[in-house]
Parts: sequence; C-alpha cells; structure tokens
Amino acid sequence: MSKVYLRNYTFRNIDKMFFCAEEQTQYGKGAITPFYHNPDKKIKLFQGDALSILKKAPDNCIDMIFADPPYFGNQSGLIIKRNDGHADTFDTQKAQWAYSKSINYQFEFHYTWLKEAQRILKKGSTIWVTGTYHSIGIVNVVLQDLGFKILNDIILHKRNAPPNFKGSCFRAVTETMLWAKKDSSGKTKFNYKAMKELNGGVQMKNIWEYWAEKNPFRHPATKQPIVLETAILAGNSN
Ligand SMILES: C[S@@+](CC[C@H](N)C(=O)[O-])C[C@H]1O[C@@H](n2cnc3c(N)ncnc32)[C@H](O)[C@@H]1O
Repeated sequence: MSKVYLRNYTFRNIDKMFFCAEEQTQYGKGAITPFYHNPDKKIKLFQGDALSILKKAPDNCIDMIFADPPYFGNQSGLIIKRNDGHADTFDTQKAQWAYSKSINYQFEFHYTWLKEAQRILKKGSTIWVTGTYHSIGIVNVVLQDLGFKILNDIILHKRNAPPNFKGSCFRAVTETMLWAKKDSSGKTKFNYKAMKELNGGVQMKNIWEYWAEKNPFRHPATKQPIVLETAILAGNSN
C-alpha cells in the first residue's frame, strides 16, 4: 500500500509513518516476541503487562505513544444489557483491572508506566493518553510532575454515546485525551498542515466530534479508528 486515505487527506509517506523503532533497535535481556508481525507494513504488536514490557525498550527510540490506560472507575461490577445497537452485554465483572482502586494505587500505577514511556520517547515526540473524569485528573498531575509538557486536552465527543442506563446523572458523551511532549525541549512533532487539511482548511480545534461505529468488541472503551488515525497523523511531522 503506498497511499492511505484519511477522509480527504492522502498520506504519501505511509512506509515512514508505520516505521517501527523496534526494527532499528535491539531489545536487551529477556527479548519479547511479537504476537503479530506484518513485515510489509513494518508493524509489530506485542502483548503483555505494560509495566514490564516498556522496561525492555531502549531510551529515546519511540516516535509516538497512544495509550488508553484503565480508568479505575468501575464500582458496581454490573452486567450491563445494552440495546443501543453497540453490543449485547458488557460484563464489567470480568474486567478486574477496571475496578476502583485507592488514590495512592492509581498514582503509583500511572507514575510507573508514564516514567518508562517518557524515557523511551524520542526528543520532541508526544504521547496521547485518554481517560474519563475518574482517571484523567491523576494522569494530568503525573504527566506534569514527571516533566512532560502538556500541549492540549482534547475532548472526544462521541455523538452517539450510550445513555446513562440508570438515569442517575447526565449522559456522558465525552472523554478527555491529554496530548503531551516528552519534555519542554526540542521542536514538537506535530503535523499541523495535515490537521488543517483534514479540517477543511481551517485550524483544527481541541474538540473532536465523531459518530462511533458499531462496536464489535463489546468493550465500551474501544477507541474508534478515526481517533487513532488522526492522532497518528498529527503526532508525526511531515
Ligand atoms: C480503558 S481500557 C482500554 C481499552 C482499549 N481502548 C480497547 O479497545 O481495548 C484499559 C485497558 O488496559 C489494559 N490493561 C490494564 N492493566 C494493564 C497493564 N498493566 N498492562 C497492559 N495493559 C493493561 C486492560 O486490559 C484494558 O484493555
């Protein structure tokens, strides 16, 4: 594939865009094996505990990070029966990682992985971290305390988000995505031109609105491809 069409935008450097830093660098002791490898597109996927996998990557080797870490917001363990066309049921009891934890636990969790993420990012490179109100405040504080430079808080507005099933508070239709640079030094990797082009020639705002497609994965936190595609395009300077 030589061209990728993202709405009206044509990305011509697709090989460069999907270049894996891992191809260039040797992992140290305890090398990990990808569970998916597509040599044509130079894509490798690794699966495991981020707290240990990130430690195996060398310093300053990653062009961009997108993370959707646990929100630690689940309190009830309900099995939600849905009829909004997204998925039939979502069993929150299976997602033990999502259960609410102490504030101390959450700080330690986010400090641990974000410290490693910062170490492996290249100079000027950025990280995108999504979250709900349960988690994003803590992530924001940790990012700042580690010396990341927060560039934007992007509001993801899912226009067809599901209702509040219990009718106990407002219907939640947004998530926040923090976009931050490794630190204050260096030129930020930002494909401003592509973002403007994507937005019909007008500077793109920090509110991204979209209609979610039917979610085949039965997980309400699944991110839409358009969100990831836009972030990947934005975080790679042309
Ligand atoms: C908010 S959900 C994000 C779901 C994601 N957007 C998706 O569509 O699969 C948080 C994810 O973090 C994963 N997770 C929790 N603890 C982890 C850890 N220590 N290392 C790697 N992943 C972890 C969970 O399995 C879950 O898939």
